[in-house]
Amino acid sequence: MRISIPSELVDLLRNAQHVAVLTGAGISAESGVPTFRDAQTGLWAKYDPQELATPEAFRKNPRLVWEWYAWRRELVSKAEPNPGHQALAELEKFVPQFTLITQNIDSLHTRAGSQNVIELHGNITRTKCADEGHFVTTWEQQEEVPPRCPYCGSLLRPDVVWFGESLPYEALKKALEAAQKADFFLTVGTSALVQPAASIPLLAVERGVTTVEVNPQKTPLTSYMDFYLPGPAGEVLPVLVSAVLGAK
Ligand code: OAD
Repeated sequence: MRISIPSELVDLLRNAQHVAVLTGAGISAESGVPTFRDAQTGLWAKYDPQELATPEAFRKNPRLVWEWYAWRRELVSKAEPNPGHQALAELEKFVPQFTLITQNIDSLHTRAGSQNVIELHGNITRTKCADEGHFVTTWEQQEEVPPRCPYCGSLLRPDVVWFGESLPYEALKKALEAAQKADFFLTVGTSALVQPAASIPLLAVERGVTTVEVNPQKTPLTSYMDFYLPGPAGEVLPVLVSAVLGAK
C-alpha cells in the first residue's frame, strides 16, 4: 500500500508544541487484539462485546463476564505492541509536550514505551472488587467463579469501564485539558461511536488547531478533520513519524 503524507502536514507536526492523540481498538488490531465492532472469532464469536461489557450482564451472569475478560486478558498478555504503537512512542520523544489518550485497556501503548498515557476505559490487567473497589492482585483459587474479594467478600471484576459506568474522573479531566490545550490533535483507530471519548477530538476541532485522523474506514469524525490518512495505523503512523523525524 502506498502511503502519501502531505508535506504541509509534516511541517505542522514538526512544529507542534503540544500533540494530543486519541486512540481506539484499531491501533491494536495489527497486534491481534480484535476490535469491538468487527466480527469476533473463535469461542466467543456468538457474544456481542456490548452485551457483555455492562454492569447488568455482570449481575445476571458474573461467571460469563469474568470468563470473557479472562479470555481477553490472556489474548492481550500474548499480544505485542506493533509499529503503530511504537511510532507514537517515538514521536513522544521529539515533541515538547505529548499526551496520549487511549480507550484501550490492553497496556500496549505503555509496553511500546509511551510515557504520558491516559487510560479512559481502565486496564484489563487490573482487578478490583465489585462493591467497594478494592484492588486485588492475587486471589486464592476458589470453586466459585468469579473469585471473591479477600477484604469484603464481594465478587472480583476487571478494572475496566463498562457501558453505563462513569469514566475515571481524573483521566477524563486530563484528557479534556489536553484536547483544550494541544495545538495538534491526532485520532487513530477509533470508530468514534462511544461517548464521551468520541467527542474529545471535537474540542480541538472547535479551537481550529490541526486535526488528523488515521483509520482505514471513515468515521463520524472524518469530515471535521483537516487531514484524513486512510490505512492501517501500523503502516501509516511509522511513515508519518519518520517523515517528521527525518525532517528535524
Ligand atoms: P471500535 O471497534 O468501535 O472501532 C475500531 C476502529 O478501528 C474502526 O473505526 C476501524 O475502522 C478501525 N480500524 C480497524 N483496523 C485498524 C487499523 N489496522 N488501523 C487503524 N484503524 C483500524 O473500537 P473503539 O472505537 O476503540 O469501550 O471503541 C470504543 C469503545 O467502545 C471501546 O473502548 C470499548 C468499546 O465498546 C468500553 O469497553 C467501555
